[in-house]
Amino acid sequence: MSKPKVIVTRRWPEAVEQRLKELFEVELNGDDTPLTQDALKAAFASADAVFPTVSDRIDAEVLSAEPMKARLLGNYGVGFNHIDLEAAKSRGLVVTNTPEVLTDATADLAMTLLFMVARRAGEGERHLRNGAWTGWRPTHMMGTQISGKTLGVIGMGRIGRAVAARAHSGFGMRVVFFDEYPPDAETCHKLGAERRDTIEDVLAESDFVTLHCPGGGANRHLMNAARFKAMKPGAFLINTARGDVVDETALVAALKDGAIAGAGLDVYEREPKVTPDLVRMESVVLLPHLGSATLETRVAMGMRVVQNAEAFFAGKAPPDRVA
Ligand code: DGY
Repeated sequence: MSKPKVIVTRRWPEAVEQRLKELFEVELNGDDTPLTQDALKAAFASADAVFPTVSDRIDAEVLSAEPMKARLLGNYGVGFNHIDLEAAKSRGLVVTNTPEVLTDATADLAMTLLFMVARRAGEGERHLRNGAWTGWRPTHMMGTQISGKTLGVIGMGRIGRAVAARAHSGFGMRVVFFDEYPPDAETCHKLGAERRDTIEDVLAESDFVTLHCPGGGANRHLMNAARFKAMKPGAFLINTARGDVVDETALVAALKDGAIAGAGLDVYEREPKVTPDLVRMESVVLLPHLGSATLETRVAMGMRVVQNAEAFFAGKAPPDRVA
């Protein structure tokens, strides 16, 4: 029997590409150049499955491919707000993602940003590398203590819970959260996390606010000018979720007028473009969408796409079906 034809839009870790070659007739992206919208559309017309990433915009136009040969869209990543799910469903595509395997790596990166911004790590490193350091002194580059402070978590899914666990058990932080569908009381108790009724309630008492909700839809600009005003003066925002959850213009204004003290960002509204004002601010730590970027996690994400595809082409239900 001939192998299903699969198109992979970006380079994947070698071990996963090897596995893809064993299982499928696979078209890999050797030089890792992002596919154009036309090339993406052509992929859906010529392969049985397309495996995109967050850097591909899988919109209704791409999914209007004729003929639509693909039956499976195996996203390499947990978030899928770059995919028009309604259009995918209407074209008969099954869509899968890669949950769980990136939870720890992403939670670790949220804590990395929290520490970096609180302790001025990026600024300090630039200071030293630029040759500006003149030696130790009591008032030099004082940051903000983390232990004992309150962490506000917006979105208490897998990653939100993993961040809460690290903050509470590892760093003695008090944790408050907002989630329309909160974890059960026992889970909250274990995490030392207290539920609040509204996002505003969380913002009002948090020294650090960390975002862990999906992007798109009603969450677009969830952090807007009013919500920055609702944060405690001196508080910090951490975003490892999706860029569009934060209104970057409002964030810049909040940082400039001192409504908040700083931000640690891994995701942006118009990736890979970053609002220039943010790049100029010492109180902001900027990382290039590295949440899941450990070798172990990126291999596990690829293997998860493979598992979903194997199940699909064997006529079974893919474990991580989202549409
Ligand atoms: C995810 O898995 O959603 C990461 O942001 C990379 O796509």
